[in-house]
Amino acid sequence: MNIKPIILKSILDSLPVGLMVIDPEGEVININRAASEILGYSLDAFEGKGWGDLFFDGEKNIDFNQIIIDIIQERKVNLQRSVSYVRSDGKILQLSITGSFLREDEEIAGIVVLINDVTELHKAHRHEKIVLEEKGALQRERAESIKNLAEAVAHQIRNPVTSIGGFSMRMLNKLDQDDPNRVYLETILAGTKRLEDVVTAVGHYTKLLQIKPTRASISKVLEKAQAGLAPKEAELSRKIKWTVHSEPIKAMIDPGLFTHALNELFLNALEFCREDEVAIEVCVFEDANWVNVEIQDSGIGISEEDRPYIFDPFFTTKAVGVGMGLCRVKRIISEHKGELKVDGVPGEGTKVVIRLPSV
Ligand SMILES: Nc1ncnc2c1ncn2[C@@H]1O[C@H](COP(=O)(O)OP(=O)(O)O)[C@@H](O)[C@H]1O
Ligand SMILES: [Mg+2]
Repeated sequence: MNIKPIILKSILDSLPVGLMVIDPEGEVININRAASEILGYSLDAFEGKGWGDLFFDGEKNIDFNQIIIDIIQERKVNLQRSVSYVRSDGKILQLSITGSFLREDEEIAGIVVLINDVTELHKAHRHEKIVLEEKGALQRERAESIKNLAEAVAHQIRNPVTSIGGFSMRMLNKLDQDDPNRVYLETILAGTKRLEDVVTAVGHYTKLLQIKPTRASISKVLEKAQAGLAPKEAELSRKIKWTVHSEPIKAMIDPGLFTHALNELFLNALEFCREDEVAIEVCVFEDANWVNVEIQDSGIGISEEDRPYIFDPFFTTKAVGVGMGLCRVKRIISEHKGELKVDGVPGEGTKVVIRLPSV
């Protein structure tokens, strides 16, 4: 069926995407309304004009011209690129260009170029990126001030605790085995032990200095973190049932710190479970911008009331716990310019999602 040229023209003009056809001599033989509007010329401006006459003016639109040159030279089909384009009125646009080389009976018939104005979308992406960066900077600033405060408090506590512990021990050693005062000193010693644990945990947290990222395999780090859990499983007489779906992905990570973060998360899954066995499912996959590590456990989950506080330093629901684990993990992930989310259903399990920028 032959479509009348006039009908074809009105179909092309009604398309929301710009379309331009250039013949082998470089003449623009077809251009629709959307293309002329995006490129900033009236439709008549193209009549009998070569593409070079219109677009090859100086250095301005090198990238735009280059894609057309590449299609011609490399005889590409569906070459897609996003380029910036400066219109004659000075407006700068971001265009998504798809170009194909046309062939008819082994002869070059020309090239067809589809043009999409993605300026607004591009702006929105950039805005989103800036907002995320600002959010990350704020979080880092907040973590920095918590770090300074924690360091100062830990420093103030360390010396008196050592004296209290040391002298209590000496007094305890002087008492007879059946002395009724022993129980008081033992309680004081248990208290100092707990304070020492807190000071040590704070010390570990504040020592998480600038990371040293290298391009490393996530699977390798994952295996190491899994192996690190074995002694804890034995200690608690519990078993982890692992399911791992991991694509061979590399990311910019500090392998030591990242292993530590995973270890801490697996440890939580092991500690906060109902039975002697907990299922941990790990999925590692990559999408357009992120490397994702998802960890789902079959434990007790986190209640709605607790959820807002789990990243706070010293928040714990354990009878004897320090509550610095998730706070440390959060800091490690934010040092990697990544994101950490903890979700899940109370009573059914917890899902942790780590997102790291792709490289
Ligand atoms: N996988 C999990 N399942 C259930 N609760 C969790 C899990 N991970 C963290 N939590 C909750 O978050 C709190 C804080 O965790 P964390 O910072 O690691 O400290 P800690 O392990 O010392 O309690 C825990 O006390 C617990 O209530
Ligand atoms: Mg923990």
